Amino acid sequence: MLFESIDIKNLHIPNRFVRSATHEWLAEEDGTPTPAIGDLYEELAKYEIGLIISGYSYVNPSGKSSPRQQGIYDDRFIGPYSTITERVHKYTSKIALQVVHGGRQALVTPEYPRTMAPSAVKDTSSGKLPKAMTEEQILATIEDFARAVHRAHASGFDAVQLHVAHGFLLSSFISPYTNRRTDEWGGSVENRTRIIAEIIRCARELVGEDFPIMAKMNATDGFGDKGLDAPECVEIAVALERAGVCAIEVSGGISEAGEVVSRRGINAPGKEAYFRDYARMIRRTVGIPVMLVGGLRSRAVMEEMLAGGYADMVSLSRPLIREPDLVVKFREGVQDAECTSCNGCFDEDGVRCKHGSRAV
Ligand SMILES: Cc1cc2nc3c(=O)[nH]c(=O)nc-3n(C[C@H](O)[C@H](O)[C@H](O)COP(=O)(O)O)c2cc1C
Repeated sequence: MLFESIDIKNLHIPNRFVRSATHEWLAEEDGTPTPAIGDLYEELAKYEIGLIISGYSYVNPSGKSSPRQQGIYDDRFIGPYSTITERVHKYTSKIALQVVHGGRQALVTPEYPRTMAPSAVKDTSSGKLPKAMTEEQILATIEDFARAVHRAHASGFDAVQLHVAHGFLLSSFISPYTNRRTDEWGGSVENRTRIIAEIIRCARELVGEDFPIMAKMNATDGFGDKGLDAPECVEIAVALERAGVCAIEVSGGISEAGEVVSRRGINAPGKEAYFRDYARMIRRTVGIPVMLVGGLRSRAVMEEMLAGGYADMVSLSRPLIREPDLVVKFREGVQDAECTSCNGCFDEDGVRCKHGSRAV
């Protein structure tokens, strides 16, 4: 099944492999994407990744959360992104832009001295206390996301993925731990997902009905029922589908929950696919394709995820940093990824594997 095609809305994807969004630390400081990012994505396309999802791209300078992160907050980025999508489209791979606002995990700078979030809940991992957003700021942020979707469309991306995971702004809206609002943007699942529904409604006015809008969502904040977790994540996924999301990638973790997103030491099949149960719960309920990310390392487990109804697609980040040609190797009979999940690839000098088959 891994090498069967799949359609997401009207988008035909040649196989079930997704390159999960991976920040590369390769953009200019103002967010302009560089030719080095194009080199990386073209290489992934050459090696037959079905769907490449870009590193997280900030929709407003106030939402930047890492040095050398790529931006999508201005029309001037359309030119360089168009060059990148053209390079990928020489191959059969599809490419999506992941769009984000850092929210309570954004960088604090002289220009943006306070982070913003649905509610003023201190991030105990960074010590930052965000300001609760005003209604005006929420509406402006919806506009920022919608314009970002429009720019992605204009740049030739095949889809966008809203980053509703890992503690960034949209994921802090869906979580009852970080969203304590009592107005129409907080409380019920409908209220906590309203910002996403509004982004999609506004984006549709700019890009029409056909452009695929996907989401990577947290199924868990990572500290049990103190925050977002099962079974409520299923209701969130259903609300996202109703809002017009056409594919969901299931992930988890926010900054203060520790090492939840990219777990270390995945060295046995039982440790792989650590969000599998969340994905299966969601997939049983929604009618759109589900992607599973997190610790997928062996071909056998990836096949089991598809055959066992956990997911429709398998999504990989760290294994493709180590081996960008992994999909081709799987096709040729290799059984296991070489990635040791050491997290040495979080490298501000440009993403790379420390054990290195390759430096970008
Ligand atoms: C270097 C690095 C950068 C990442 N950047 C992003 C990102 O920009 N957006 C995102 O949603 N996840 C990001 N992630 C998380 C991965 O997409 C993925 O969810 C996580 O690493 C688990 O999958 P894996 O075991 O295949 O690495 C990043 C992970 C790594 C290792």
